[in-house]
Amino acid sequence: MKKVLLTALIIMMALPLFAGGQQEDGAIEVGSNIYSFQDNFMNGVIKPELESYSEELGLDLSIVDSEGQQAKLNDQVDVFITKGVDVLAINLVDPASAGSIIEKAKKADIPLILFNKEATEAGIMGTYDKVWYVGTNSAESGIIQGEMMVADWNANPDWDKNGDGTVQYVLLKGEPGHPDAEARTTYSVKAFTDAGIGVEQLALEADPNWSTTHGNDKTAAWLTSSFGNDIEIIICNNDGMAFGAINALKAANVVLPVYGVDALTQALQHIADGEMNGTVLNDGVNQARATLDLAKNAAMGSDAVAGTDWVLDTDGTKAVRVPYVAVTPENYKDFF
Ligand code: GAL
Ligand code: CA
Repeated sequence: MKKVLLTALIIMMALPLFAGGQQEDGAIEVGSNIYSFQDNFMNGVIKPELESYSEELGLDLSIVDSEGQQAKLNDQVDVFITKGVDVLAINLVDPASAGSIIEKAKKADIPLILFNKEATEAGIMGTYDKVWYVGTNSAESGIIQGEMMVADWNANPDWDKNGDGTVQYVLLKGEPGHPDAEARTTYSVKAFTDAGIGVEQLALEADPNWSTTHGNDKTAAWLTSSFGNDIEIIICNNDGMAFGAINALKAANVVLPVYGVDALTQALQHIADGEMNGTVLNDGVNQARATLDLAKNAAMGSDAVAGTDWVLDTDGTKAVRVPYVAVTPENYKDFF
């Protein structure tokens, strides 16, 4: 009888734990996604670090592919919530759709860490006390890339092919509406005008997938267009698209300065080979680590940054912002 009671008591005590989603071994369950497994940076840098660092922290992590569809992500979040995960770590597909995800998490009382793609709806982070963001200061990448280009432009007078003192540029933008794509576009070009150098945009193309194929196809088309010979610089808002631009340049036997963002290993190699002029380290390793540090703390009900070196913005964005770093032919070896 005593034994039966004890068993019943143990089951009863264990019930709330299972209901809360914790595993039998007590590991915290993290439900996570990547907006698209096709993305060079997200799949090549952030995802592997999420996987290895979750092991280090003893977290039970599931990562699903949202395949570039916000509707799919909404369903995936519903499944995680039904499963009873302890915390959500979400990479938005549509940065304007954070509200629906936040509402789901809030309703289920599950903490939520958004990462890499910052929500664009004003004030949305204030609608739930258990939501945080981990990413970067998007403008910083554009500023760093722009300053790098200005320094090189000034050091290479022959880059001004038509000698008009103005930079004739083409720009591969990435996902329209993505804070990184928008800010990089604005601030990289602004660096020239701030330095008193004129700018003329010959073409700009956006691509929600930030892809190498897109970079290749657009650059190839530009090179054979009416303004093909006028292009003086190719500005790429990420390395993936820059790789495509480099392929197209090689195929057309044309040499032009190319700049990217992310500092993927392949970009470092292109810099080593003299095919790329610079990139900006987008520190995915630390973004992944901060995401899981905050997730773990939040799941345990601790202060989000307790016991870590991460600092939260106090401007209402509730963000941890990992710094960008300039990567040039002078210092690229440090980043391999
Ligand atoms: C950016 C990154 C891009 C792409 C994008 C996806 O931070 O630079 O390469 O991965 O995120 O949201
Ligand atoms: Ca010029």
